[in-house]
Formats: sequence, structure tokens, C-alpha cells
Amino acid sequence: MKLLAIETSCDETAVTVLEAHGTEDDASFTILGNALLSQIDIHREYGGVFPMVAKREHAKNLVVMLDQALEEAGLKLNTDIALPQTRIDAIRALLEREEGLADALIAFLTTHENPGLDAIAVTHGPGLEPALWVGVNFAKALALVWDVPLVGANHMEGHLLSALTTPDPENPSAFHIRDVALPVLGLLISGGHTELVAMDDWLSYRLIGQTKDDAVGEAFDKVARMLSLPYPGGPEVSKLAERARERGNIVLPALPRPMLGDSTCDFSFSGLKTAVLYLIKGRDLTDTEKEEVAHAFEEAVGDVLFGKASRALLETGAKTIVLGGGVSANTHVRRTFTERIAKEHPEVSLRIPEPRFTTDNAIMIGIAGFYRALRKDFMNPGDMRANGNLSLT
Ligand code: KG4
Ligand code: ZN
Repeated sequence: MKLLAIETSCDETAVTVLEAHGTEDDASFTILGNALLSQIDIHREYGGVFPMVAKREHAKNLVVMLDQALEEAGLKLNTDIALPQTRIDAIRALLEREEGLADALIAFLTTHENPGLDAIAVTHGPGLEPALWVGVNFAKALALVWDVPLVGANHMEGHLLSALTTPDPENPSAFHIRDVALPVLGLLISGGHTELVAMDDWLSYRLIGQTKDDAVGEAFDKVARMLSLPYPGGPEVSKLAERARERGNIVLPALPRPMLGDSTCDFSFSGLKTAVLYLIKGRDLTDTEKEEVAHAFEEAVGDVLFGKASRALLETGAKTIVLGGGVSANTHVRRTFTERIAKEHPEVSLRIPEPRFTTDNAIMIGIAGFYRALRKDFMNPGDMRANGNLSLT
């Protein structure tokens, strides 16, 4: 099955062409073309992602990304096509609020034919709604003109499934989802989410725990701001913390491990963030002190994430644990889980995503789209809506 996948839920405009086959238990994928444009440099100036700016940038870049992905896949089929006026009107109606996108798409569709796609998958949530709508409307227009089935992909399902993949040793563009022992416990940690979900059977989820306030990625970003580090803060905090660890011999400032001792699998990060604020308030920190604060913060985060995941493993009897979302890129979190799962839950298999799957991309949307397409879970373009709060459970 050849899928086109589109991701615009936050600040990455991404389009992928994915070849996929197999079953839920044994699926194989090859990336044919992958285009991704990060808006990070634009949002950095504002210190965060502004939904309307993200929306404008997606509208500006989606056709360029589509063109690039198809080109890389060798699927850019140039011809002259006389689009019926009714189609042109439909595209204009769908994209009336996405400035300039209708014109660009019409120009593309009058010069390129359907490259033999079997499905178009698009993120319809969760995420920033204005940003999501651009991708959704774009996908609807493509599905309509090319007459291809449309699949709605849940962004978090994309994070989870892509984190279960194993690379194909013979082909760097290929990977598989196989030999996964169910039930799976997913720890989804990103800028908007911190949740533990059990996948008892493929695509069937139960919420085991979630944050009561800030998401862990958000806490990283806020602590980074307190330390005058640029957005997005996660990777910056991580760099500082790793420097402190390399130096060694440090007496760490004491920070709380919120909710670690209670009997739930829920999280709280706002108290930790406030504790960091009090720790540094009114002080002019040296670079070394900043590294120590970053280190102490990461240690607290690692303890809480692992402690809650560990409790959830016991509660669910999961045989596999998988980390997904932007924060799963974090070196300390990856190391903590690798060491402590081996030691404390040796019977559980740990899956940590390859770095290319940790932050937002369209490959993961293609994977989620394939699993949904296997179940013929197609959507009528008229019924698809972007939903910023779309839930897995
Ligand atoms: O999944 P993602 O790319 O976007 C959302 O769906 O939210 O996650 C972005 C979040 C940001 O908060 C970012 O600071 C954090 O992931 N992040 C990290 C690292 N890389 C990204 N946090 C800690 N360490 C990292 N290396
Ligand atoms: Zn994400």
C-alpha cells in the first residue's frame, strides 16, 4: 500500500510517501520520500509556538513539501490536466481560509497526476487547531481530486507506533513493527502530553495515568526560559545537564519529585517547575550553576517518569514498554529507562524510538495511517474535522 502522510499539528510541516505492507503483528515500511520543514527559527523569536503563525507557515509550505516528497519518491508525474471547474471550486471552498494555499495546490494539481496512492493519512488531532486545519483541508482537497481514501491519524498514536519500530539492518529507509509482546505500555511525553496508556490489543487504548498540570516537555521549555536558554528548551537543558554529569562530583540542589509517592500513575510537573524558580530566584547564576540546576531538574524528571511507569507496569502486567514523543529524545530519560528497566523489570521489553522518530514527522503519521487503513478505518472527507483535544482513549 502506498500512503501519502501529512503532519501539521504544531510547528513542523511534514509530508511523507510511505510504502507499507503486512499485518498489525508484522508490518514492514519503506520511506519513499520524506520532506520536513521546521518552523523553529520563526517561533524562537517569540519564545514559543504561535498557532496563527504556525498556520500561515503550513499554508505557505505544504505544496513545496508535497512536491519534495513526491520528487524524492520518484513519483512526480508531470502532465497537463484540465481540472474541471467544479473541482477547482471545491478546492477553493476547502482552502478559503488558508491564504495562498488553494492557488498553489490548483497549480500543482493541473500539472501532476495522482502518483498511484492507496491512501492519504493526515493528523486530525491532537495539536494546535488552526495548524491542524491546514493539513486536514489540504488532505481533503487532495483526496477529492485524486479520488484516494482519506485516513485520520491521531498524532499520539503516531508517536506510539513509530516508537515500536525496529530498523531494517539492510535498508536505511526501511523498518518494521514485529515481535511486539502485548500488552504494551506507552509513556507518551511531549510538549502537550504526559500520559501512560496501555495498549491491550492493537489500537485499543486505556488511560493509566496523565499529568494533572504541565506536560513534561512544557516543564523543560519553562525551565529553559528561566535559565535564559532559547526555545525549544528541552535539548538545551539536556546539553547543560550532560555537561554537569561529565564534570561529576556535584552536590545537587534538592528538588521535589511531585506525586512520586502516591498510589496513582498520574504526574504533576508544575510544582517542580516552581521549585526550580524558587531555587534560582534573585540569583545571578554562573554557567556552572545553570548546568547544576539543569542536572537536578532532569534527575527529578527521570525519577518521576520512571517511578510512575514502573508502577504502571506492575498495574497493567504489560510485557513491552515504549517511549514516544519529543521528550523521548532526552539522553537522561533514555539512559534512565534503559538501565532501570533492565534492572528492575528484566522481563519487560523496552522500545525506545530511533532519534528520527522522537520529534514530530510525517513518517509516524504514515505508520498510524497504515494501521487504520488495514482496518478500513477511512473517513468521509466531509466528516473529517481537526480536533485539538483528540484523545487516544
Ligand atoms: O512531540 P514533540 O516534537 O511535539 C509535540 O507534539 O509536543 O515534542 C516537543 C517537546 C518540546 O517541549 C521539547 O522541548 C521537547 O519535546 N524535547 C525535549 C528534547 N527534545 C525535544 N525535551 C528534553 N530533551 C530533549 N532532548
Ligand atoms: Zn509530537
